[in-house]
Amino acid sequence: MRNKHRKASRPLACIVLAAGEGTRMRSQAAKVLHTVAGRPLVRHVLDAVAGMRPDSVAVVVGHRADEVRAVVGERGRCVLQSEQLGTGHAAQQAMAALRDFDGDVLVVCGDVPLITTATLRALVREHRKYGAAATVLGMVVENADGYGRLIIDDAGGVRIVEHKDATTDERAIAEVNSGTYCFDAAFLRNEIRKLGRDNAANEFYLTDLLERASSDGRAAALVLDDEVETMGVNTRFDLARAEALMQERILMEWMEKGVGFLDPSAVWVSADTKLAADVWIGPNVRIDGHTRIGAGTVIDGSSHLIDTWIGSNCHIRWGTVTREARIRDGCILGPYAHLRPQADLADDVHIGNFVEVKKSRIGHGSKANHLTYIGDTRIGHDTNIGAGTITCNYDGFDKHATTIGDRVQIGSDTQLVAPVKVGDDAFVAAGTTVMKNVPAGSLALNERRQLLRKG
Ligand code: UD1
Ligand code: MG
Repeated sequence: MRNKHRKASRPLACIVLAAGEGTRMRSQAAKVLHTVAGRPLVRHVLDAVAGMRPDSVAVVVGHRADEVRAVVGERGRCVLQSEQLGTGHAAQQAMAALRDFDGDVLVVCGDVPLITTATLRALVREHRKYGAAATVLGMVVENADGYGRLIIDDAGGVRIVEHKDATTDERAIAEVNSGTYCFDAAFLRNEIRKLGRDNAANEFYLTDLLERASSDGRAAALVLDDEVETMGVNTRFDLARAEALMQERILMEWMEKGVGFLDPSAVWVSADTKLAADVWIGPNVRIDGHTRIGAGTVIDGSSHLIDTWIGSNCHIRWGTVTREARIRDGCILGPYAHLRPQADLADDVHIGNFVEVKKSRIGHGSKANHLTYIGDTRIGHDTNIGAGTITCNYDGFDKHATTIGDRVQIGSDTQLVAPVKVGDDAFVAAGTTVMKNVPAGSLALNERRQLLRKG
């Protein structure tokens, strides 16, 4: 009983290694800040780690440290590794921040975005089951290039040989190191100081600790059949593959929750998007940022929606682009509508083809269906904006507001030169350049004669 209790409450710390440059990406950006499903690689890892509810999280940063720190934020304590001398050296820096910690230490690389909390939990469970000093999470892969190979002997000893250091025979091994480990804190603290760098990379290898634990019979390995979760991103090719695998995972989850896709392979959805049941999405759709879409909304296809909130039972027709817009229930957009930041539509608004809306509120039931620009405008309810209407909101220096009331009819080819107001129930004739306010209930038109000359 006492033993059981001790086990359950054994403290857990996590170290995330994220200081490397990622030379093989050939990029200015730090490798762990490249994104999958719109989130930096290291964010995915930190999210999986957070699911373990660890007592503390240390993140080793180095290359472009400030940018990585900004992404880590409150999710962990950052420790600087000013020179990248290898994974062993990186973990040593983190242990300096965990000086008084006693318990188990989970070490995860910042470049394994598909890792899940469930797998981390399985690793810790395995480690504790054997009372091991070091347990490595391995996997069986089709192409082991670049990975450290796991050499597990009959006596239960575990050794990791890096690709660069491996013999031809060792390179034929398909069981590889995922870069995820669980260590006993005291073991890690003592042994990490003794690591050398006598190897092909001239680096301190964290992986050497497995052999050290083996010599006391205290090494263990949990080897997964699945190579998806633990794949490390080292190249642009890996990044594209991780993205495809993550999209498959995300779309599967949404389908389980009742979202329909005509062709899931032609849809991209960010990890921060939220979709309701009976949302239906056609092909070539990209949904970015913190977008939310309500029940029963249909997106025909070829749309890019960014940080947009869309209500229920809307119809987003082909070719629509929206960014930081709010669209309430029952709206119809497109084909080819463009909603820009702070476009705010009430229920049952129709925004048609080649209509652009920016920083404008449009009341329920109002319509702007053709070839129109609405910017810095407030429109009441049940108003109709005719084809080719332009709010002239910019005088070359400043932006000015247009206000249009309820039940207004704006005729086609109207220019509203802001600042200007059109009152409720007003009527603006086609082709009018509105320069002065139009009071409620009145008709506005420009005096212009149509001339006819015979022949
Ligand atoms: C490492 C493992 C290898 C394993 C593979 C799994 C070692 C020696 N090798 O190789 O056995 O199969 O991961 O993906 O550990 N990092 C630092 N500081 C450093 C060096 C690296 O923080 O000085 C970080 C990187 O940012 C990265 C992680 O450690 O997130 C792994 O480094 P990487 O260079 O990708 O190691 P691999 O060669 O992939
Ligand atoms: Mg790697």
